[in-house]
Amino acid sequence: MLCRDYELKPIVDREKLCKVLCFPRVEEECCFSRLSQIRGLGVVEIYDFGKVVLEGGVRVVGKGHAAVVVLARYNNELVAVKIRRLDSKRDSLEREAELLILAKVSGFVPKVYTYSRDFIVREFIDGPTLKEFIATASLQQLRNGFAKLIEAAYSLDRIGIDINEISRPDTQVIFECGDPLKPRFIDLESARVSHNTSNVTRIIASIMRYRRAYPSFLDLTNEEIEHMLMLAKKYKIVEADSRKGIVERIILTLLR
Ligand SMILES: Nc1ncnc2c1ncn2[C@@H]1O[C@H](COP(=O)(O)OP(=O)(O)OP(=O)(O)O)[C@@H](O)[C@H]1O
Ligand SMILES: [Mg+2]
Repeated sequence: MLCRDYELKPIVDREKLCKVLCFPRVEEECCFSRLSQIRGLGVVEIYDFGKVVLEGGVRVVGKGHAAVVVLARYNNELVAVKIRRLDSKRDSLEREAELLILAKVSGFVPKVYTYSRDFIVREFIDGPTLKEFIATASLQQLRNGFAKLIEAAYSLDRIGIDINEISRPDTQVIFECGDPLKPRFIDLESARVSHNTSNVTRIIASIMRYRRAYPSFLDLTNEEIEHMLMLAKKYKIVEADSRKGIVERIILTLLR
């Protein structure tokens, strides 16, 4: 979903299209095969859109080590397409897509429409990354955002999906339309199914890291910090049934 109207320009120049489909190289063979693959999946247009500009001037939604992400049209929807980079150390995006599908019940990940080895066609989450959110949000919005993030992390813990990426959540979390109550985990590339999940403690660890960088972060007292660290320790060792009460106490501390 888009949060506002944008003027969308489809990429028509073949060289530019090949650049995003076969990043970081422009190989005719790859381009030919990926173009037919992506059309076969139902993607009809790719847009020159986003905050990241690739060499050659084409704009994309995101660029990571494993993929380039573009805004595209699929059926009648605007979607994000994660495109596997040619130099990615992963040989397939299928596992990430399957984990996203498994995590769908949580409501905190983008919906997957279709996928293949080289593409994931998924919901486009329009909004600031956690890093951008932190730079502009008020104290109350930040507290609400982190409280919701703890709830989101707990819902993934409950379904047994451990997301490694959220140890560094800066660009792994997007707040849909800047709404503190709508965080989404967008990258499940190194996530795994586990009996011993620790997403909640990872978010608490990230709060501690932000506090080291900005001591007034979330305006928490030393007692509140101690309390949260104690709860995080408990969270790690208790049985799954007792985790809910601990999460509620963490959220209460953040929202006081
Ligand atoms: N569904 C989406 N909606 C909106 N933006 C997205 C979406 N998926 C990815 N992005 C943007 O693209 C960037 C890269 O995506 P992603 O993290 O999935 O790629 P990656 O190659 O696995 O990255 P990394 O090397 O950081 O692990 C994200 O940080 C985000 O800004
Ligand atoms: Mg990744």
